[in-house]
Amino acid sequence: MKRILVTGGAGFIGSHTLIELQQAGYEVVVVDNLDNSSETSLRRVQDITQKPVAFYQVDIRDRQGLCQVLEQHPCDACIHFAGLKAVGESVEKPWEYYENNISGTLTLLDVLRKHNCKNIIFSSSATVYGDPKEIPITENCPKGQCTNPYGWTKSMLEQVMMDIQKADPEWNVVLLRYFNPIGAHPSGTMGEDPNGIPNNLMPYITQVAIGKRAELGVFGNDYDTPDGTGVRDYIHVVDLARGHVCALKAIDRKCGLAIYNLGTGHGYSVLDVVNAFQKTNGVKVPYSIKPRRAGDIATCYSDPSKAERELGWKAEYGIEEMCRDSWRWQCQNPNGYKES
Ligand code: NAD
Ligand code: WQD
Repeated sequence: MKRILVTGGAGFIGSHTLIELQQAGYEVVVVDNLDNSSETSLRRVQDITQKPVAFYQVDIRDRQGLCQVLEQHPCDACIHFAGLKAVGESVEKPWEYYENNISGTLTLLDVLRKHNCKNIIFSSSATVYGDPKEIPITENCPKGQCTNPYGWTKSMLEQVMMDIQKADPEWNVVLLRYFNPIGAHPSGTMGEDPNGIPNNLMPYITQVAIGKRAELGVFGNDYDTPDGTGVRDYIHVVDLARGHVCALKAIDRKCGLAIYNLGTGHGYSVLDVVNAFQKTNGVKVPYSIKPRRAGDIATCYSDPSKAERELGWKAEYGIEEMCRDSWRWQCQNPNGYKES
């Protein structure tokens, strides 16, 4: 397998994955509508790998645009990152989320099969487990009730791809359920670049640490966890990116349908992350306790052993590296990919 179509490749996880793919010898073709990203991330990828990225500003809902790309660059597999991902926004704009993520993916799947590319790796999420029935969460844990439309798009799209694979066993479908991706490329030139007020913990912490925001609000300290704050399985984005390269192995051996958790297997509370960030980077992160955030659960961390057994993949970076690299990215790029 040689050439990989990467949808959403200009985004946070996609851009880091491009580096790992190129460094592993794959050729990459990116389609992204740049709705939540900038082409600068692709230039940074090329600076790191010294290899060209073929890029097309195409929306995955644009059938003709996708066909043109695949006709010009026949691909062996697709890694499908493209989608809207803001949980709160999905509650405000459910139609937009269902339309973009579901219509987009349906169009993509159809175009892929018509171009005889029946291999896909899909960015799913631990959110499909809802409030998990078991901790640590294995892939056998039943899927649950999602608390927002974003989560439902992931859950529904998993079902769509499972059904398509069942009906046509020529398909190989790998569903990767990510836990909480944070961190940035160790070069400090690539990272997460949220628009406006960050929804997620780590970008909020880095913006407080650099003085853009006064303090972090910790959403609840009365959960049933060791210190009362929410516990999550944070994973370094470079480890996550490497997980996609390993997942291509499952496709090589014609896995049919395969589902993997990508996490570290360790749970850290909000205050653990704040403390690790302060200690690793020697900076203060003022915070105050706020009410719980709607839809949050107490604890969510993975059992990632299936990916290790079957893909030979294991997260290598710990919370210190995640904090260090997030901070390096923030310091070197106070305005993200935008010019200052
Ligand atoms: P991101 O927003 O940085 O990247 C997504 C990319 O998709 C963006 O570059 C955006 O411009 C593009 N895009 C969106 N809709 C598109 C469309 N219709 N056509 C073409 N391009 C489109 O997000 P990310 O954090 O890199 O996430 C990548 C994938 O992983 C998403 O599917 C997301 O739902 C999933 N995921 C993310 C997390 C997380 O915490 N970051 C966790 C679990 C799953
Ligand atoms: C982590 C912890 C918060 C911000 C989300 C999506 C999930 C997946 C990953 C895509 C929680 C607390 C946060 C803040 C805080 N994305 N927190 N103050 O909610 O675990 O997962 O991103 O698939 O679907 O829901 O991540 O980073 O928002 O929160 O106290 O300002 O930090 O309550 O305990 P979450 P998060």
